[in-house]
Amino acid sequence: MKVSLILSLSLLSCLVSIQRCHGGEGDVLLKFLEARQTKQLFTTNVNEGQVGAEDRVNSALGSIIPQKGSKEDDKISALPGQPSGVNFDQYSGYVTVDADAGRALFYYFTESTQDPSNKPLVLWLNGGPGCSSFGNGGMAELGPFRVNNDGKTLWLNEFAWNNESPAGVGFSYSNRSSDYVTGDKRTSEDSYTFLINWMERFPEYKNREFYIAGESYAGHYVPQLAQLILSHKKIDPHIVLNLQGIATGNAFIDIETQNRGSYDFYWSHAIVSDEVHEGIVLNCNFSASSLSETCYEYKTQADFSRGNIYYYDMYARLCGSPQNTSLPISGYDPCTRDYVDPYLNTDEVQEALHVRGIPQEWSSCNSPIHASWQDSPDTVLPIFQELMQSGIRVWIYSGDTDYTVSVTTSRYAIDKIKTPIKKSWYPWYFQGEVGGYAVEYQNLTFVTVRGSGHFVPGYQPGRAFTMFSSFINGTLPPDQYLK
Ligand SMILES: *[C@@H]1O[C@H](CO)[C@@H](O)[C@H](O)[C@H]1NC(C)=O
Ligand SMILES: *[C@@H]1O[C@H](CO)[C@@H](O)[C@H](O)[C@H]1NC(C)=O
Ligand SMILES: *[C@@H]1O[C@H](CO)[C@@H](O)[C@H](O)[C@H]1NC(C)=O
Ligand SMILES: *[C@@H]1O[C@H](CO)[C@@H](O)[C@H](O)[C@H]1NC(C)=O
Ligand SMILES: *[C@@H]1O[C@H](CO)[C@@H](O)[C@H](O)[C@H]1NC(C)=O
Repeated sequence: MKVSLILSLSLLSCLVSIQRCHGGEGDVLLKFLEARQTKQLFTTNVNEGQVGAEDRVNSALGSIIPQKGSKEDDKISALPGQPSGVNFDQYSGYVTVDADAGRALFYYFTESTQDPSNKPLVLWLNGGPGCSSFGNGGMAELGPFRVNNDGKTLWLNEFAWNNESPAGVGFSYSNRSSDYVTGDKRTSEDSYTFLINWMERFPEYKNREFYIAGESYAGHYVPQLAQLILSHKKIDPHIVLNLQGIATGNAFIDIETQNRGSYDFYWSHAIVSDEVHEGIVLNCNFSASSLSETCYEYKTQADFSRGNIYYYDMYARLCGSPQNTSLPISGYDPCTRDYVDPYLNTDEVQEALHVRGIPQEWSSCNSPIHASWQDSPDTVLPIFQELMQSGIRVWIYSGDTDYTVSVTTSRYAIDKIKTPIKKSWYPWYFQGEVGGYAVEYQNLTFVTVRGSGHFVPGYQPGRAFTMFSSFINGTLPPDQYLK
């Protein structure tokens, strides 16, 4: 396929690491969603998703900031414990996005294994809010390396998105502590400033075909950043970001469909009783600004009756269960994230990655940051609709065994958009088996990845890679087995 370069950005939203969140981003998102419901967070911002693009343009944004870093200095000679056979260049370092505050974003970038000068550029963002795209996405999902269970050495990911085909917050920082209270708006603005300044360091990527992909809470960041880029482009067509499309996976995009869809998914996947589900259907109005007492009672029962199953991948084995002698069918080791933490907290690794000035040890997600998240619109569907009309490629994909942001929630959200079907639901294939299902709508493509949990490229690397390469190729996933 023709894809290739991964740029993983550590958003400011994943900066300090005070507390570890072992569950990773899905767990953080679950807690975030619960908190917003009980505390009635963000009531002043519910309409932000509807703000027109023009209102978001701030001409001071995206100015070129004097940088200390350089491409040469950012080049990684080798990561400690990396296997032989590495046939691509890797870079990591900092791009200052606010010189007064001393705020800098950490990035990790890998070039394509083949012909990098002609490959499109992909920015990958993980969710949370408050999780590292490098430590989660880069090291456990789509990046070229995975960490062995010794926490010290690496193995090569055959289906990495920079293979003839992309990358990631944990090391970003600010010298102004008040910056650790952040939100959606700051995140998209910083990402935008990052991109403009990153292009100065890597000028060969200016005007290159550019895509943004991400999962989970990045269902907010990805469309918001795309909207910001397009609105700046309208005012200044010379902006060097040639945005061609976005893809979001198991993405939180609308609070009402997120709630309604979750309980319907539980019921249709046999993890709650008929009575509890019916109680929710009859008593919960997820469009209302607050939920009734009775609704809460049923919700609590539903959450309790699930039992201890893995919220990212409901059929997977739990990390730490005694039957760890064989890997689950997907080949994904549920303890993967436990190997990434020690690896990224090794001094030599941090040195190789050019890490500097992080106040605490690295962790995959930052709890204080997500707990103090400032703005988060209830829905970003209006942004999706705006992007669909802009002519860029818009894909929504979903691993179908994740119950945190389940496939049902995505389908309900798409249903609200009301776009006509162009090619109806069909099975697509990878290695002779159904890789999932796809449906093409006008200006929007929806793809499921069969047997995959929340972190799609982590759980189903081959299927995810086929889905992703179809996205970049501008084709639908193959309706038959490609040799
Ligand atoms: C994407 O295009 C390349 C050729 O440019 C092709 O080899 C590859 O099979 C395509 N991928 C898919 C999933 O269609
Ligand atoms: C943050 O402060 C340190 C110490 O003064 C300085 O070395 C560093 O460059 C500052 N960071 C940025 C992004 O300005
Ligand atoms: C749910 O709440 C919304 C918003 O308050 C209201 O418009 C709607 O009528 C309610 N639906 C039902 C079935 O009560
Ligand atoms: C299974 O996991 C336990 C604790 O996580 C560990 O002590 C044990 O060595 C593991 N067994 C195998 C065969 O990996
Ligand atoms: C699709 O995009 C075209 C313009 O590019 C627009 O006219 C049309 O309304 C869009 N349809 C939907 C459902 O977004």
